[in-house]
Amino acid sequence: MIHEKVTKLLYGGDYNPEQWPEETWEEDMRITNLADMDIMTINVFSWAMLQPNESAFDFSQLDKVMDLLHQENRLACLATATAVHPAWMAKKYPDVLRVDFDGKKRKFGLRHNSCPNSPSYRRFTSSLVEKLAARYQHHPALALWHVSNEFGGDCYCEKCEEAFRIWLKEKYGSLAEVNKAWNTRFWGHVFYEWDEIVVPNNLSEHLGSYDYTAFQGISLDYRRFNSDSMLDCFKMERDILKHWTPDIHVTTNFMGAYKPLDYQKWAGEIDIISWDSYPAVNSPASLNAMNHDLMRGLKQGQPFMLMEQTPSVTNWHSYNALKRPGEMRLQSYQAVAHGADSVMFFQIRRSIGACEKFHGAVIDHVGHEHTRVFQECAQLGRELTQLGDLLVDAIVPAKVAIVFDWDNWWALELSSGPSRDLKYIDEVWKYYHAFYTQNVPVDLISVKDSVNHYSIVIAPVLYMTKKGFAEKIEKFTESGGTFVTTFFSGIVDEHDLVITGGYPGELRRLLGIWVEETDALPPGKINQIKMTEEGTVYEGALLCDLLHTEGALVVAEYGSDFYKGMPAVTKNAYGKGEAWYIASSMDEAFMDNLAATLCKKRQIKPLLGVKAPAGIEVMQRQKKENTYTFILNHNETEQKVQIDKQYRNILTNAVFEQEVILIPYDVLILQEELS
Ligand code: GLA
Ligand code: ZN
Repeated sequence: MIHEKVTKLLYGGDYNPEQWPEETWEEDMRITNLADMDIMTINVFSWAMLQPNESAFDFSQLDKVMDLLHQENRLACLATATAVHPAWMAKKYPDVLRVDFDGKKRKFGLRHNSCPNSPSYRRFTSSLVEKLAARYQHHPALALWHVSNEFGGDCYCEKCEEAFRIWLKEKYGSLAEVNKAWNTRFWGHVFYEWDEIVVPNNLSEHLGSYDYTAFQGISLDYRRFNSDSMLDCFKMERDILKHWTPDIHVTTNFMGAYKPLDYQKWAGEIDIISWDSYPAVNSPASLNAMNHDLMRGLKQGQPFMLMEQTPSVTNWHSYNALKRPGEMRLQSYQAVAHGADSVMFFQIRRSIGACEKFHGAVIDHVGHEHTRVFQECAQLGRELTQLGDLLVDAIVPAKVAIVFDWDNWWALELSSGPSRDLKYIDEVWKYYHAFYTQNVPVDLISVKDSVNHYSIVIAPVLYMTKKGFAEKIEKFTESGGTFVTTFFSGIVDEHDLVITGGYPGELRRLLGIWVEETDALPPGKINQIKMTEEGTVYEGALLCDLLHTEGALVVAEYGSDFYKGMPAVTKNAYGKGEAWYIASSMDEAFMDNLAATLCKKRQIKPLLGVKAPAGIEVMQRQKKENTYTFILNHNETEQKVQIDKQYRNILTNAVFEQEVILIPYDVLILQEELS
């Protein structure tokens, strides 16, 4: 529950009245009212206006905006304004400025630009947040705190370097342990004093790029440290806000599968997850679906907020295509189908200057409501009002889980060998997409989450096995679960140190195999994957593990090269369950078949009974005894979908049986019609 006053899916977005004369505000309220909007995110980039210099504060404009929102019956998602420091601060206290990956000290500019370990930034941040919280703690419009904005990036300044050494001391206790964890005898890197340790960037361990390091252990710890440093900034603000308003939820907007921050660690410190969804024009709908599920998984399935999306167009992709009529509505319901309890936009009114002046908005430069985009926003607003509280707090039920781990992501892509083309998200998405096309909901979970209530757990390229994971999965499989993992899994421990004695390390016994070598295939090269029973041939690419069975059954073997005939897919009976190993990055047909086979075995039926046509997404949310099935048409064409029962579309009250017809970008929310 976002706030006790909330009895529907929230609707609104980022509102920047500080960029406009006050006369415009009333008009903004009038127009957004026509779209049934009820929440505005305000004050995101206002620090320079709230604090014109070191000792002066001016909340007069924010007071007016807060009062206006209340008067207009809107809720405020009140940002703390710390996402960009004022120019005067950078001039007077240059420690707030970041040093970039190349070692260059930045000047004032851009946003999200403060060093997270800068004493001045932290001091000024806490003083501003104290004042904000004290001032608005009882304000009736206040519904939610929005800390900073899209935390991210990294810093390599001297303050960060000092803080890194302290972080290491706390983590490892002694330099001896640090040396061990980083294997510093390699290339004679042994450290004898803490201040010999420097930040890993292009001036030290890296060779031109973020993922190209000589010392994975050092770079990996720096990623963890950088994520923790930003999290400390978040926690500092949150603690102040909680002190003044213990009952108001605190969030900060995430960015989906955003690499620099370990959101799974952050999630424990946040009341409600919110995120900004900006799919690129050609990105598959299933990738966006996966991002939603990743965000829902951060708090073990708790509904999240769609904090931002564009109503029509972005400005920062290379090609900023318009969302086609119906597409914004479709993407909004896609978020809701995956667990969002809000639909919010960036931005309410389109700015006139600087880089976002061509970014879509609810109210365009023309200034009135008679636009295609506004009319679509208004229609959606009415629908969300009509839906009332039906979907609020409803959960998404899933029997399949995919394990996702930020440390693994970092370590995998920092790895020097076996292939530069190995990308974590691509491989995770392959597995996600395979179940998505079966209309089978998936949870994305962390390595720490409980797996007991799932039938199938998949850990794609789980290169790093953290303490306790293998035992947990052994128990899960033993008691009847199906576990699936892939090539290049079980290789290293949490320090990126290889687990010796045969790959896949701690997973070897469970999988009943030994991986002896790994072959990297250059782009365009494949190996055939021949199913031993059916004889069907698929293709594997990217990496091919050369393995020997140690009890596992061979499901498929390689069809060419010197390892022709060696196992390419195995399954191992373990207790009451099975553990599968997929030794290469398989083609879509193989993935499709694998997902279908596993679901059939585990009696996981596609939602609506059958696999839907391509581009049709089916998802479900449940609340008490009610189940809502979403059918989303991502195609530009009309589609027919078979249904298994009689259903009513709760958006239109139309009743269907046997089949439904969806126009391009259509959305249906079906509830079983009990006759
Ligand atoms: C992000 C930010 C917003 C805005 C949008 C533009 O999500 O949070 O302030 O810049 O991008 O797409
Ligand atoms: Zn710094």
